[in-house]
Amino acid sequence: MDKILFDERNHKYILIGFAESKDEQGIPSNQYLIIHKKKSILIDPGGFGLFPILLSRLLKYTKLQNIKAIILSHQDPDVCGGLNIWLEMTEAEAYISRLWLRFLPHYDIKKVDRIIGTPDEGMDLHIDGKFHLKLIPAHFLHSPGQINVYDPVSKILFTGDIGAGMLPCSENSLFVEDFERYKGCIDGFHKRYMASNEALRKWISTVEKLEIDIIAPQHGYLYKGESINKLFEYLYQLKCGIDLL
Ligand SMILES: [Fe+2]
Ligand SMILES: [Fe+2]
Repeated sequence: MDKILFDERNHKYILIGFAESKDEQGIPSNQYLIIHKKKSILIDPGGFGLFPILLSRLLKYTKLQNIKAIILSHQDPDVCGGLNIWLEMTEAEAYISRLWLRFLPHYDIKKVDRIIGTPDEGMDLHIDGKFHLKLIPAHFLHSPGQINVYDPVSKILFTGDIGAGMLPCSENSLFVEDFERYKGCIDGFHKRYMASNEALRKWISTVEKLEIDIIAPQHGYLYKGESINKLFEYLYQLKCGIDLL
């Protein structure tokens, strides 16, 4: 399924893959495409098997040669497994935390010179004119080097695995309708995979300063309105990872 989440003048934010995996064994994941004027940015393109379906959807909105950047929230195969083919088919540069630079060649990537390591403190990724995306650190959530992507035009915050849920679970279609019910769908994952409450609180103190209309995770339903505040409140209190060790 693809769905336009934001569309205004020269700027689009599109969900180009929703809870899909090539086969039943893979973790269903979400992929996103931002288009500013013609320049296009792909976020967490996912495993190799997703390439054909994502490509067919992507071509409805943009061209391969317009993809200027591929942003990888962290090192996992459900994020980077198909990176080699995206680098072969485009001229894009890929961005990932500098911690993971030397691990990526193990995904059989030949074009390693086009992978850029982002600093621990995050960075502004300049796209066009005054438009830039904010790459925001979310370290230890769950990866030691995890980055979020904030788009100041659409006010959509991509959070990678933070807020991620497994589907199907609870009665939603695209957005979380009832956070209290959905909590049961994300609780086990966050308790086991997120490093600690301290890391969560550090992250909340950074992102709560942003104006956020949508939280877009790499897995599961998206959050808007009241469910964003409820997600923050839930994570602020959550004991997880080493808190439970
Ligand atoms: Fe992950
Ligand atoms: Fe993931």
